[in-house]
Amino acid sequence: MSVVVIIGAQWGDEGKGKIVDLLAEKAKAVVRFSGGDNAGHTVINPYGEFKLHLVPSGIFHRGVVCVIGNGVAVNPVILLEEIENLQKHGVDTSHLFISDRAHLIMPYHTLLDGLEEERRGEGAIGTTRKGIGPVFADKIARLGIRTCDLLNKKNFRARLCQVLETKNAILTKIYSVSPLSLEEIYEQYCSYAERLAPFIRDTGPLIQDTISGKQPIILEGAQGTMLDPDFGTYPYVTSSSPTAAGSSIGSGINVKQLDHIIGVFKAYTTRVGGGPMPTELKDKIGEFIRERAHEYGATTGRPRRCGWFDAVAGRFSTQVNGFTGIALTRLDVLDALDSIKICTGYKLNGNIIKDFPGDIDILGKCQPVYEELPGWRISISDIRHYKQLPAQARQYISRLEVLLSCPVSIVSVGASRDQSIMVKQIM
Ligand code: IMP
Repeated sequence: MSVVVIIGAQWGDEGKGKIVDLLAEKAKAVVRFSGGDNAGHTVINPYGEFKLHLVPSGIFHRGVVCVIGNGVAVNPVILLEEIENLQKHGVDTSHLFISDRAHLIMPYHTLLDGLEEERRGEGAIGTTRKGIGPVFADKIARLGIRTCDLLNKKNFRARLCQVLETKNAILTKIYSVSPLSLEEIYEQYCSYAERLAPFIRDTGPLIQDTISGKQPIILEGAQGTMLDPDFGTYPYVTSSSPTAAGSSIGSGINVKQLDHIIGVFKAYTTRVGGGPMPTELKDKIGEFIRERAHEYGATTGRPRRCGWFDAVAGRFSTQVNGFTGIALTRLDVLDALDSIKICTGYKLNGNIIKDFPGDIDILGKCQPVYEELPGWRISISDIRHYKQLPAQARQYISRLEVLLSCPVSIVSVGASRDQSIMVKQIM
């Protein structure tokens, strides 16, 4: 019996989808708890290759209850497309449920996300333009519309009418664009409601019954801790919490019920969008990593910024989340390198600092201090046992364990489910 939380430990795209898919065969339920379709979880398994934006990565395992939790912002168009695509590939979706407390992404959210980004000009955040900032702002401002509202047409219309008045005032008076039509949105969302109704319910009892029945649950994070609105590189962050604490809020599982918190770290660092990234490599090695690992956004196709492993950010992320274990992904990407660097501190005004700064102006001035380790120069993609890894790869992993003060539980050496080394049993 255990509740296992899978957290992005860096700036997102760490390979959480693969780790969830791998562990899900032993789970009874998988719950997505934050973000929205800004996420793109790549899963490669016998059904094919999928980029899941909203549906939990446990969907491929029959009998595993998959929940889109209250903390997720749901774009019904994207969700319906995703369900349809899964069904087309023979994947059973009858075990998918959507929390009736989850907020809906409305057409004005995506529209405003784009307009706000244009308005920021040079200072643009580089959002995915999926409406994430605006939907979570509305949630906190008490202007949101939730999936439960879809189930009651009269209430939905009244709520939409009220909110749209404010949104149209912003669209016309601030952005000088045409207002949105109440009728069009209402009709459109009523048609989505009909198709989504069978999936929407109070998912709290379903989750708590699973826990009471002592059956394992996975909480699937989206994005990464360094994109957290509180602990990330604000304002270059997302708008819901991708942390372990966020998993509790976004699922309704209380903090005492969390047993294992697994931090998913890529063996190097990537970031997509704006904001400081101390270990970014704007040279041939950065390019080499991007091309070798095909580091392009699963949702937007944007090239990801690549760099060495940042253990200062990693240690901070480990403390914020309380990781009990690490899943180290994409170690095979480093196969071809003669030597590998790890950032162990930042140089700032002639001093070495070890704490991750909260102010991005300060972070932008930090120069990485590196430690260099030898590479292994052979392919590790077919290795399935930790002891069979080359000594240099084990040395790299051990050094990360020391720097992060946390043991490595899983090593991923390729994209497929089976290209995984279980160092310690988690479930
Ligand atoms: P938003 O979440 O679309 O508002 O984007 C805010 C920031 O988070 C931008 O820098 C995005 O590139 C980044 N971001 C959002 N979702 C992901 C993700 O799934 N992986 C990596 N970066 C992301």
